[in-house]
Amino acid sequence: MSKKYRSIRGTADFDSHQAYAFNRVVEIARQSFKNYSFDEIILPFLEEEGLFVRGVGQNSDIAEKQLFRIQDKDGVVLRPEGTAQVVRYFLENSLFNHGDFFKFSYIGAMFRGERPQKGRLRQFHHLGAEAIGSDNPALDAQIIILALDILDAVGVKEKELLINTLGCDKDKEIFSKELVKKLDSKKNNLCEDCKRRLGKNPLRVIDCKNKECKKTVTSLNIGEGRLCSNCQTHFDEVLGVLDMLKIKYTHAPYLVRGLDYYTNTVFEITSSALGSQDAIGAGGRYNNLIKNLGGPDIPAIGFALGIERILIALGESGEKERLKAYVAVADNSLRGDALKMVNELRGEGISCDTDYCLKSLKGQLRAAVKRRARFVVIFGEEEHKKGCVLLKDMDKSIQSEIKTKDLINEVKNA
Ligand code: HAM
Repeated sequence: MSKKYRSIRGTADFDSHQAYAFNRVVEIARQSFKNYSFDEIILPFLEEEGLFVRGVGQNSDIAEKQLFRIQDKDGVVLRPEGTAQVVRYFLENSLFNHGDFFKFSYIGAMFRGERPQKGRLRQFHHLGAEAIGSDNPALDAQIIILALDILDAVGVKEKELLINTLGCDKDKEIFSKELVKKLDSKKNNLCEDCKRRLGKNPLRVIDCKNKECKKTVTSLNIGEGRLCSNCQTHFDEVLGVLDMLKIKYTHAPYLVRGLDYYTNTVFEITSSALGSQDAIGAGGRYNNLIKNLGGPDIPAIGFALGIERILIALGESGEKERLKAYVAVADNSLRGDALKMVNELRGEGISCDTDYCLKSLKGQLRAAVKRRARFVVIFGEEEHKKGCVLLKDMDKSIQSEIKTKDLINEVKNA
């Protein structure tokens, strides 16, 4: 028996309804990116492994266990995220010599070898935005508001903005040391991963989803008064702009994010409609990433929204795009005329289709209903002799005889 092929674990097929819903989200996001003056770029799926190991952090889950390596192509991986990649693009093209402020958006597939579950895939899609060249707190707020705007525009109603600050690298270091000290006596309450993280990347312990780890971390009462004055002022100003613009948020002192490049502002947008994988999007500042990847000292901030999670939150059953016209024939001798009409309608930018299976008129009408055609144009012998067709308005359930030469205008103007 020949092998039955199945899709790869953690990947998803989009049927035509889901593809329609997906494209709708993409189009709305693209418009929002334009409104906020972001320039869309398209970058490859393949990158050097080192970019992410250095960019996202050697001890991050992504670098440690989630990279998809391309066999036989040494050091080539499928991109797990877009931020380090945009920075690679920025540096490779020395864009810092061509301006001082850049706003890039990107839309595309990302790949992570995670354990698949609802909302957690191995191939998923990001709507991403990165603003490079400013440390202004107003930009942090703008980036957050753009992410929220996109979610509003696509129709995600239930959502919560969680925001925190990690401070600068020095603040992060002091905080990490304090954390190690405080957690030392409570080590046994931590999961195996966190015991390991404590030695390598203590901040990640805060981010652990394990219940016991969460309880242990919460009992530490950490968070307040650990920032240098510059970073505290920055954060206060970000919150000030959000307050001024009446954006609701929750300060989440335990939000650290799983990627090491973050400094200062970090945020996550969650939705109760999502279940355990509740982050619909996330982002933050990465003021040292450009420098750490060999470039000049330039601050930046960005976010990415997960398209699949947006679709889950929308509960998209996904309406398929409607066909404007379906051209049917009551007599097979008129199929040539019908085809000509189909071509003319399409030439006018009117979506339309016809029958290729020699179906009866009843069968053709059924096909038109299935495609949710707004109009059915019927070529009948009687009408044809008079230079007419029957035009059936499926929404209004009205059928009228019209001159064939008037058909295009009639359909176009409806
Ligand atoms: P991230 O939190 O890893 O951040 O991903 C952003 C969003 O992508 C998540 O909130 C989630 O909606 C979606 N996502 C992540 N992993 C999966 C998965 N396995 N399956 C389905 N959806 C997923 C970043 O990637 C950063 N690059 C965001 C950023 C941009 N920070 C600054 N600039």
